[in-house]
Amino acid sequence: MCGIIGILGSNPAVPRMLESLKRLEYRGYDSAGVATLDGGKIDRRRAPGKLEALTSALAQDPLPGNVGIGHTRWATHGEPTEANAHPHATDKVAIVHNGIIENFKALKDSLLADGAVFEGETDTEVVARLLTRELNNGAAPREAFQATLAQLEGAFALCVMIAGEENLMFGAREGSPLVVGLGTGENYLGSDAMALAGLSNRLIYLEEGDWVELSRDDYQIFDRANQLVARPVSISQVAATMIDKGNHRHFMQKEIYEQPTVVAQTLGRYLDPNAGTVRLPGMPFDLADIPKVTLVACGTSFYAAQVARYWIEKIARVPVEVDIASEFRYRDPVYADGGLALFISQSGETMDTLAALRHAKEGGQHVASIVNVLGSTMARESDLVLPMHAGPEVGVASTKAFTCSLSVLASFTIALAEAKGQIDAEAVSGYVNELERAPALMAKILANDEEIEAIARDIATAQDILFVGRGIYFPIAMEGALKLKEISYIHAEGYAAGELKHGPIALIDEHVPVIGIAPNGGLSEKTVSNLQEIMARKGKVVLLSDMEGGVADDMYAQFKMPSAGDLITPILYALPVQLLSYYAAVEKGTDVDMPRNLAKSVTVE
Ligand code: AGP
Repeated sequence: MCGIIGILGSNPAVPRMLESLKRLEYRGYDSAGVATLDGGKIDRRRAPGKLEALTSALAQDPLPGNVGIGHTRWATHGEPTEANAHPHATDKVAIVHNGIIENFKALKDSLLADGAVFEGETDTEVVARLLTRELNNGAAPREAFQATLAQLEGAFALCVMIAGEENLMFGAREGSPLVVGLGTGENYLGSDAMALAGLSNRLIYLEEGDWVELSRDDYQIFDRANQLVARPVSISQVAATMIDKGNHRHFMQKEIYEQPTVVAQTLGRYLDPNAGTVRLPGMPFDLADIPKVTLVACGTSFYAAQVARYWIEKIARVPVEVDIASEFRYRDPVYADGGLALFISQSGETMDTLAALRHAKEGGQHVASIVNVLGSTMARESDLVLPMHAGPEVGVASTKAFTCSLSVLASFTIALAEAKGQIDAEAVSGYVNELERAPALMAKILANDEEIEAIARDIATAQDILFVGRGIYFPIAMEGALKLKEISYIHAEGYAAGELKHGPIALIDEHVPVIGIAPNGGLSEKTVSNLQEIMARKGKVVLLSDMEGGVADDMYAQFKMPSAGDLITPILYALPVQLLSYYAAVEKGTDVDMPRNLAKSVTVE
C-alpha cells in the first residue's frame, strides 16, 4: 500500500525521485519523504499529507546527493505525522518499507532494552534500528543486512542506504512487491514498473524471499537461503507518458473515457470476429474437464466476479462459487477435484486475493488470474494468465479495469461453454458479434455524459443513496455504490431490487435518491415494480434503462441507455454508475484520484 523508490545514481536523485513518487502516489498518500547520501552523510526531508507538501519542503530546503530513497505512505502503524513518515533513519542507515513487520513489538522491546530511543511509532523504524545495531556490533553492510532480514516476520519490501556507502543499496522482498531497474551507470529499486517508468524499462521482479545488493554497475540477487540466484530481466511496456492525465481533469475521468478503446483492445486479444471464435492463451489444463469454477477477488474486481457467475452458470452450465478474498481462505473452502480457481485483480498484488490464490494452489486447484499488471505476483504464480490490457490504471477508483475484466470474463465464459459442448460454433459467433458491439455502444453512452453530470450534481447533496438491480445488474448496483462512496464519501449501498422490501425500504423517503438499473427484458418488469414501491414512499428514482418512457410519471430522472444483450449490458451499465460517482465527487470537491483513507493497491491484509 506504500510506494518505494531507490536511485543509485550518477546525478541528483531528488528530482527523479519526486517524479517516481508522483507516479507512486496512487499506492498511498498519507505522507511522503526522501533521503539522500551526500558526502557519505544521510539527510532527509519528510512531510505529512500528499506529495506536494514534500515538494514544497524541498523547494525551501533542497537535498543534494546522487543516491536516494523515497517513499509515499499509506499508514498502517502510527498516524500520518512527520515523525512516522518514511524514510526512517539513524546516523548510519536510511530505510523505506512497504508492508507490515508482524513481530515488530518484540524487536522493539529488545532494542529498547539496549537503550534505543525511538522518534516514531512505526514498525519500519524498528528495522532501521535493528540494522544500525548490527552495524554498531561490527558487521559489514551485507552481513548486517542479512542478519536484520533474518529477524523479521511479516510482509516487507525494503530499500536501504548506508552512510558512507555511496555505491551500495540493498533491497528485499517478502510479501510486498519490489522491482530492480537496470540503468546505464545507475541502478534503481521500485515498488512496480510505474515507479521505474522514465528511469528504466529493463526490470527484474524479485521473487518472494529475494534480497538484492546493488551497485551502480552491478547487482547480486540472493534467495531466502542467501544463495546467489539469477532472475530474468523483462522489458516494461509502461512508459512514463502513459501515466499522464492528458487534457483530463483527473486520472479517473481519463480512464472512464478510455474504456471504449481499452475494451476494444482487450476484446481484440481474445476474439476473432472474422472467424467468429474465441481464443484464450494456452493453458496446462483442459477447460472441458473443469467441474467447477471458484471466483475470488476484492472490491470492484469482486463485483466483476459476481457478474461472471451469472454468465458462466447460465451459458456454460458450470457451477460457480464466488467469494471476497478476505473471507475465502478463512472459511476453509471445500475444493472440487480438478476445479479451476480464477482470481481477478487489477494490480495483481492485492494481499487478500494473493493469499487466496496461494490457498487454492495448495488445495490442488488449477489457478488462473485476470490481471492488468503482467509482472505482478499473481500473474507469476498462476497456471494461466488472462491479461486485462487496460493500460496503467492510476485513479484509485477502478473503472477501465472493471470493464476490461468483464470483457475477459465474457470471453472466458464463451470459451468454457464451447469446451463444455453447451454452445455450438454458430452460438459462439453470435456472442462474439455481440461483444464486438460493446466499444461503439460505450462511446455512444459517454457522448451523453452531460445528462449524467446534471443528475449527479443534483443528488450530490444526499446523505444516503441506494443502487438497485436484479440478476447481473445486482453486482453493477453494488459496484455503483462502491464507486460513489469511495470517491464522494456519500453513504451508498447496492441492493438486489427484490431485497428492498425485506428491510432496506425503511430507509426510503423524499431525501433518498435510488439508482435503478433495469435494462429492458428479463427481470425489468420486476425491477420496475420495486422502483414503483420506492416511489410510493417518495423515493427519488433515477432509472438507467433502454426502456421507452419512464416507469412512472413522478419518476425523478431517466438516463436512456442503448439496447443490447446480457453479455455486454453489464459492461455498458458500468459507465453511467461510474459517471454518476465521478461527477458527484467533483461537485463535492473531494480528491477524486486520491480519496481519503484509500490506496490503489492494498498489499496488506
Ligand atoms: C475499487 O474502485 C477500489 N479501488 C478497490 O475496491 C479495488 O477494486 C480492490 O482493492 C481490488 O483491487 P485489485 O483489483 O487491484 O485487486
